[in-house]
Amino acid sequence: MSNERTGKVLFVATALCVVCSVLVSTAALGLRPLQEENAVKEIKRNILSAAGMLPESGTYDLDQLFAEMETSVIELKTGEVAQGIDPKTFDPAEAEKVAATTFNVPAAKLAKVGIRSHATRMKVYVKRSASGGVETVVLPIHGKGLWSTMYAFLALESDLRTVKNLVFYKHAETPGLGGEVDNPLWRAQWPGKQLFDEQSNYDFKILKGRVQPGSAKAKQQADGLSGATITTNGVNGTIEYWMGPEGYGPFLQKLREQGARRG
Ligand SMILES: Cc1cc2nc3c(=O)[nH]c(=O)nc-3n(C[C@H](O)[C@H](O)[C@H](O)COP(=O)(O)O)c2cc1C
Repeated sequence: MSNERTGKVLFVATALCVVCSVLVSTAALGLRPLQEENAVKEIKRNILSAAGMLPESGTYDLDQLFAEMETSVIELKTGEVAQGIDPKTFDPAEAEKVAATTFNVPAAKLAKVGIRSHATRMKVYVKRSASGGVETVVLPIHGKGLWSTMYAFLALESDLRTVKNLVFYKHAETPGLGGEVDNPLWRAQWPGKQLFDEQSNYDFKILKGRVQPGSAKAKQQADGLSGATITTNGVNGTIEYWMGPEGYGPFLQKLREQGARRG
């Protein structure tokens, strides 16, 4: 091949590379807002699904349905609504990066929930009845499985003791093992489980194995994931942590008191 021909081939190949990379990066940049919008929609869908408010079929206006939920940012420590914080822009992952709004998980709880820290504030979602009472509360929770931090929405019924749904929406556990947290059969056991006793003390455990049908404790227990005890323990510890004093305990107590005042 002559030098001139080699030069032309190199020029065309380089030009092609430049054109392709410009096209790919333009597409990636151009699609980013759409991807972010879809991620927000997916979160809304998961929250509504946990609350049992997502129609199983047919068309619906996602934003209109979501607007039926009251979204607030709360101070975990007090359970009070955080003043001056816009729930629309609040991101707990960003808040966790700022020293003033980072909470370090106490050493004694670390082994259970597996995460070292989280934000001092979290977003909560409440569906109220026409008379203003709590119908459902949806709480974002997260904790370590075997391979990953697992993120879920835990929805409680109006009694604030009974589980409405547990929906995992992000994790990287092994499909077929820890990834079975997504299995509809495993998920179907959650509605009706009771996390707290009548005095509002936490009393719940995910077993290694299956719950004995008809046993007196059946509502206070859930089936573990077979071959995935580490993920199971992570889910167990995550729920216990977030229902406790460092998690949503104070907020749930506030809602109970509001409910008692309403009569
Ligand atoms: C490739 C591979 C992936 C695994 N993924 C998980 C997992 O996602 N969650 C989990 O708890 N255990 C997983 N395990 C199994 C754990 O290492 C451990 O054996 C298991 O959690 C013990 O549970 P068992 O007592 O129910 O068998 C995995 C094992 C292997 C070899």
